[in-house]
Amino acid sequence: MLKKFTGFKKKNIKSEADNTLLDDKNIPKHVAIIMDGNGRWANKRGLPRIAGHREGMNVIRKIVRRANEIGVETLTLYAFSTENWKRPKSEVEFLMRLPEMFLNKELPTLMEENVVIRLTGSKENLPKHTINAVDKAISATKGNDGLILNIALNYGSRSEIIQAVKKVYESLEKEQLPIDSISEEMLNKHLMTGDLRDPDLLIRTSGEIRLSNFMLWQLAYAEFWFTEVLWPDFTEEHFNEAIRVYQKRARRYGGV
Ligand code: IPE
Ligand code: IPE
Ligand code: MG
Repeated sequence: MLKKFTGFKKKNIKSEADNTLLDDKNIPKHVAIIMDGNGRWANKRGLPRIAGHREGMNVIRKIVRRANEIGVETLTLYAFSTENWKRPKSEVEFLMRLPEMFLNKELPTLMEENVVIRLTGSKENLPKHTINAVDKAISATKGNDGLILNIALNYGSRSEIIQAVKKVYESLEKEQLPIDSISEEMLNKHLMTGDLRDPDLLIRTSGEIRLSNFMLWQLAYAEFWFTEVLWPDFTEEHFNEAIRVYQKRARRYGGV
């Protein structure tokens, strides 16, 4: 049933996008976003790439609020891949400052909106200041029970799978289990996202049609939505559009 979006599910949530037709019975529970195009956004304006990253950070705020108010349970944002270390040092340094810039500014609002912060990715090689900022936000928000904002930072899906395979091997050894006891559930449990459900919807901005080593296992049955819009230009209305398209898809999972 199509229902006019008439109000906010939770207190303290304010958004301008209140005129959207969404089926409130079919909201994707887990949305994952590859936030791409910050550099091109800046280039087009003759600005340094970091200006695009800064602008992109401001978009996150709006999308988190919007996702929360329509009842998305988990929002995973790809913020830095294991391949992004290849970028110039100054850009990497800026990207490593972004989580604390975002969290320092937004933590009070995220608390008000009942958001839970979590991290998916390796802490190895992350600067101490980045880890501290994220850890502080994780512990501050751990008692909340609203939207889970899962930040994929220093994340790469292949290395995640390798880690999981090693843990599966260890558990077989430890418990003296036969190789046939390896199951999808067992491997899944050892992924960094082991306690999260798989994404229902993947959004990628900036016109690139690829996964860039993002959640290869978890996205097995996700619906994909790509847009040419660059991440700093992405709005709540684009997000709504992605949800609307998702709601028209028939998810068959191999059935009929
Ligand atoms: C996405 O924007 C942000 C990160 C990958 C950290 P890009 O920085 O990749 O922007 P483009 O793709 O170069 O435009
Ligand atoms: C993917 O974007 C990583 C993030 C958005 C954090 P990239 O810009 O790094 O991906 P490629 O290089 O275009 O595949
Ligand atoms: Mg890019």
